[in-house]
Amino acid sequence: MAKKTIKDINVKGKKVLIRVDFNVPLKNGEISDENRIVEALPTIKYVLSQGGRAIVFSHLGRVKDEADKAKNSLEIVAKRLSEHLNQKVVFVPVTRGKALEDAINALKNGEVLMFENTRFEDIDGNKESKNNPELGQYWASLGDVFVNDAFGTAHRAAASNVGIAANIKETVAGFLLEKEINFIGGTLENPQRPFVAILGGAKVSDKIEVIKNLLKIADTVLIGGGMAFTFFKAQGLEIGKSLLEADKVDLAKELLELAKGKIILGDDVITGKAFDPETEKNVRSIYAIPSDELGLDIGPRTIAEFESYIAKAKTVVWNGPLGVFEFAKFAEGTRSIAQAIVEVKNQATTIIGGGDSAAAVIQFGLAEGFTHISTGGGASLEYLEGKVLPGIECVDNK
Ligand code: 3PG
Repeated sequence: MAKKTIKDINVKGKKVLIRVDFNVPLKNGEISDENRIVEALPTIKYVLSQGGRAIVFSHLGRVKDEADKAKNSLEIVAKRLSEHLNQKVVFVPVTRGKALEDAINALKNGEVLMFENTRFEDIDGNKESKNNPELGQYWASLGDVFVNDAFGTAHRAAASNVGIAANIKETVAGFLLEKEINFIGGTLENPQRPFVAILGGAKVSDKIEVIKNLLKIADTVLIGGGMAFTFFKAQGLEIGKSLLEADKVDLAKELLELAKGKIILGDDVITGKAFDPETEKNVRSIYAIPSDELGLDIGPRTIAEFESYIAKAKTVVWNGPLGVFEFAKFAEGTRSIAQAIVEVKNQATTIIGGGDSAAAVIQFGLAEGFTHISTGGGASLEYLEGKVLPGIECVDNK
């Protein structure tokens, strides 16, 4: 069902509540990756250019006590937002009360306000995270319309998304949420073929539902990374000291049967004797992994095989690194596959489903070469699982 977007409403002179996902990583009190802020700018700028009064809010981290509050103030993010917008952002260091209401009432058309971390409300009975009805109602009362642009949070039913939507006349998607719906949702609904899905990461258990859903939709599912070893084990192979989820071997067998040849695992790996960036690396056939070694990357023949599928693809969806890319010696598989996807950009829609694989392509300097890099971690995973996300569901239909 098509969702209403910010283009479908008139925001002039209105108090526009904008839920963004500014849950950005902080290192030593500094923002270490501002992608989520940058991606939210088009929506905020549009509201301002149309004469709306922007009331921006987000969660940041998890907040259980006063110490968490001190670590997770959004003030630093408001400052960065102000730099990007090149205009003042009034920061209100509370989540409710007279100071917030007065500041909102003082806003003029084209001005921006940001209030404090919505999860500060979690200290008192998880009101934000458990979608306390009074809280959703209160925040809704602060604005005239609600723009949800927080895709990264769309898998959570919180007071600051579904709670507000339930208590306000109009809820529309911002440009970022719209983009994520079009690329991820649109691709899953109607992919151009061949559709190649690439799944990696450490654990099968994190990806079971994604594998099941993509087996229904994709033409080929390439699997690498730590989770491949549970599949090798399911085929009766010896995997040495490689990552194994022993309780998932039967499930891996079932998935391989269900796949009817759609799952491709490759046939060689790069191993080392220890999980260590300096460990000596070896290329091993998957039929001859020594008992004292563990797999840390996909091997050259596997890279070539994966590349041959990608080269013909019209749709590529990728979630999860194919090796320990954080160690330079074991980044080759993930980097080569990223490069192979970049090369088909002109013929295919290429999507990265957030999280570590997004971090990897940004690290390799290849981010520009993809059609879409999702801003969601858990949200994109659940979307790829085929789940209905509450943060999308709560947006009005066209
Ligand atoms: C994310 O970073 O995945 C989202 O902002 C959601 O954060 P959460 O896992 O703390 O709910």
